[in-house]
Amino acid sequence: MPEMRQSSLVVVANRLPIDDSVAPDGACEWRRSPGGLVGALHPLLRHTPATWVGWAGGAGSAPALPDVDGVRMHTVALSRDDLRDHYEGFSNATLWPLYHDAVEQPQHHRRWWEAYQRVNQRFAEATAEVAEQGGIVWVQDYHLQLVPGLLRALRPDLRIGFFLHVPFPPPELFMQLPRRAELLRGMLGADLVGFQRAQAAHNFAQLVTKVLELPATDRRIGIDDRVVRIGAFPVSIDTAEMAALAARPEVAARARRLRRDLGDPRQVILSVDRMDYTKGIEQRLKAYSELLASGDVKVRDTVLVQVAMPSRERVGQYQILRERIEREVGRINGEFGRVGEPAIHYLTQPFDRAELAALYRVADVMAVTPLRDGMNLVAKEYVAARVDGAGALLLSEFAGTAAELPEAYLVNPHDLEGLKQGLCAALRASPTDVGQRMRAMRAYLHQHDIRAWARSYLSALDEAGALINRLASTDGTLDGAARVPAPATPAASPATHHAGG
Ligand code: ADP
Ligand code: F6P
Repeated sequence: MPEMRQSSLVVVANRLPIDDSVAPDGACEWRRSPGGLVGALHPLLRHTPATWVGWAGGAGSAPALPDVDGVRMHTVALSRDDLRDHYEGFSNATLWPLYHDAVEQPQHHRRWWEAYQRVNQRFAEATAEVAEQGGIVWVQDYHLQLVPGLLRALRPDLRIGFFLHVPFPPPELFMQLPRRAELLRGMLGADLVGFQRAQAAHNFAQLVTKVLELPATDRRIGIDDRVVRIGAFPVSIDTAEMAALAARPEVAARARRLRRDLGDPRQVILSVDRMDYTKGIEQRLKAYSELLASGDVKVRDTVLVQVAMPSRERVGQYQILRERIEREVGRINGEFGRVGEPAIHYLTQPFDRAELAALYRVADVMAVTPLRDGMNLVAKEYVAARVDGAGALLLSEFAGTAAELPEAYLVNPHDLEGLKQGLCAALRASPTDVGQRMRAMRAYLHQHDIRAWARSYLSALDEAGALINRLASTDGTLDGAARVPAPATPAASPATHHAGG
């Protein structure tokens, strides 16, 4: 067997940054994986001597993948049963709904829990093989909450970080989980547990005290002879990269063309979501439909572009959601559209980054109204893309982003009247108001980009800074992201890192 190459930084996530998909001609091709996690981490790690451990999409054997932008890909194989019970089951039909305010009913099956343990063990073993002695391992998200504990048992020499991209629920919800103690213990295998928001760190500390009876504050937890630090580190995007893309003449030209193709309406409303019941798509469509019915919004004047990329398509709740959305889009277009003038342009295709940037540039109002969202990077991408300083962001109070971008037009998506009023306010806002808000949000995101996120998280994880500085001395993107101050500068405590709360 060839000797396994080892890395001093290993990122572990359920998905690799690329996965296999079938091209229209039937050929298998690799494309960027969907979702915010890959969108955040992929640009960050580019050209960094790191290894990414994850699943490549599909069932069965693990394909050997070439390096992607200089990052080694280490594939973990998942069988059909693993996918059904770990990914679709425990991850996306138990934890996902529970962590998102139980907006859909979480389901509990013992078989799913067994698969969750089994798959987490496999990820821990794969990681243990590729991590250099004394290296840093950064475990991502709710699919892998047991990995920190399992990995510590295999490789106590490692510095282990865990980051949760989704919300961490209040105790009254988390307590529903039959295996709550095991999940908390799994996360506590890390040296640093990071959340999107301070409230999530607080929920975690409360639960650890209640369920495990361990001494915990919102910053530190004592377990065995170790201290686990916790804190909020709101994830972000490569702001400069999105801005540069949006500023390209061909993207600006494409935006003008899109506007023409949309019939040159006075106002374009855009939503870009993974097709997920947490994103509030149905509530948004209802609000839009009522505004059309009341005449507050008129079709020739205003157009809604709804991009809804299908997601987790084998999970029952997602299938039902898609059917309901498509029926509602059909009803609204049937009732309010005209020949050549639909009320809603509905698109389920994946778009490349340039096309997304052009869509953002054409949107007078960007409607991001999830019922609950750990962060929501689409909102940040929109702000970054508005290099012209225009554009109104309508944003749910229940997206993590809202704590960081209070200048957005904030709405409660559960309140239909409030949602309608918010949409009208954004559509009718004066250019001065829109411009002032956009300027403030752009200034914030300029500072708080993906590199700032990595810097705050990794420097808190690796207080001494030795490992991170070794990585940063290479010629990679992580350079500048993660360089840690000389030891004379005390590392800030994790709880001071959160930008908005
Ligand atoms: P989540 O992590 O729940 O999927 P986020 O809003 O944080 O939600 O991230 C979604 C990411 O997926 C963003 O980077 C966005 O640009 C991307 N995305 C969404 N829809 C599409 C699409 N149709 N084509 C390509 N990328 C998309
Ligand atoms: O943000 C939550 C998340 O599960 C991420 O891990 C992922 O980027 C995204 O949603 C897409 O989900 P999936 O990997 O299930 O397609």
